[in-house]
Amino acid sequence: MTLVSNALQQFPLLEAWVNQSYRGLQWSKGYFSLLHRTVAGRIEELLYPSFPTEPLHPDLLRQLQQRVEDLLDQDWQDAKAGVYPVDLLFEEAWDEFFQSYPRLWADLPRAWQRAHGQRGQDFDPEIDLTDYPPYYLQNFHYQTNGYLSDESAQLYDHQVELLFGGKADAMRRRILSPLKQGLQQAFPDLSPRQVRILDVGCGTGQTLKQLRACFPEAQLHGVDLSMAYLRKANQRLSHQSQTLPQLIAANAEQMPFAPSTFQGLSVVFVFHELPGPARQAVLAECHRVLQPGGTLVICDSIQEQDSPDFLPMMLNFATRFHEPYYRHYVQDDLTARITQAGFTVIETSVHFLSKFIVAQRL
Ligand SMILES: C[S@@+](CC[C@H](N)C(=O)[O-])C[C@H]1O[C@@H](n2cnc3c(N)ncnc32)[C@H](O)[C@@H]1O
Repeated sequence: MTLVSNALQQFPLLEAWVNQSYRGLQWSKGYFSLLHRTVAGRIEELLYPSFPTEPLHPDLLRQLQQRVEDLLDQDWQDAKAGVYPVDLLFEEAWDEFFQSYPRLWADLPRAWQRAHGQRGQDFDPEIDLTDYPPYYLQNFHYQTNGYLSDESAQLYDHQVELLFGGKADAMRRRILSPLKQGLQQAFPDLSPRQVRILDVGCGTGQTLKQLRACFPEAQLHGVDLSMAYLRKANQRLSHQSQTLPQLIAANAEQMPFAPSTFQGLSVVFVFHELPGPARQAVLAECHRVLQPGGTLVICDSIQEQDSPDFLPMMLNFATRFHEPYYRHYVQDDLTARITQAGFTVIETSVHFLSKFIVAQRL
């Protein structure tokens, strides 16, 4: 337990003040995102005919609000218990956000053109498309140049934050407690420096940043297909004082690591962007590179099976954003896939719009 979490336990007034500041920050991000989406949506409607969408039951909004409350409660409890430092809850790169925000608006007309022209494989001529699996060459979310440009890497996290009302990081943090617990139980004799953790599909490094805060001395690695996103991750992680995680450009279906290299693996928001066979191949690779006893933690979109009331929202997401494998994903049996890859599923849970699966390689 850290000094700060100790102080929070002992001084209830301090705890109440920090907790309220955290909630204020989270709700302000939520309102800003709502305002952004409303204004952007209105402008889009003026320019293009609206998309046919599934009607949402009014009760869904109440359920969503409850899920946000539960997510914030859990996030606060984990920080207070010292699973990760309380300052992680307040780490916001506002300067970066406000610098990028006008560029995000400048890019929106191109995304709308793509969305309304149904062009989901639209890359500028200078983008090198060789050596990627065909399923990857998509403008996910109708992003300009998909995952293959520095500009896309610069805007990605802000787009995700606006989409999730500023709750993306709080959802990602839900992997930290089960991972910490799994490692402590399975490898009690390993020193913190001997622990090796890999983040698969690490993108711009948000999860690695959280992993570093939670495991300050561990050997961290990240793998991703996008050099541009890895460059952004490198830039972000260089600001942390601890050892820089090792970032490697590779396909997660064939990772350049020896068998049983890692004790912990995380895969965050990746599986919904893979077709079924690639999902299975990545899980098989995860099994190969994880030590027996090691823990795999997955965070991804909710699915029909765990959140049937939210199905209309999921279908709207698939229609509105370019997510070619998402409809298949929402009905896929991830537990069966994980078991088929050789893992034992320990626990599944849902937090806001994400589901979490904790599995162990026995
Ligand atoms: C939706 S983003 C999630 C990124 C990050 N994990 C996060 O939480 O923001 C999906 C990431 O998976 C990566 N990716 C997709 N297919 C991959 C594959 N076959 N091998 C490695 N990375 C892949 C993409 O480049 C992208 O960075």
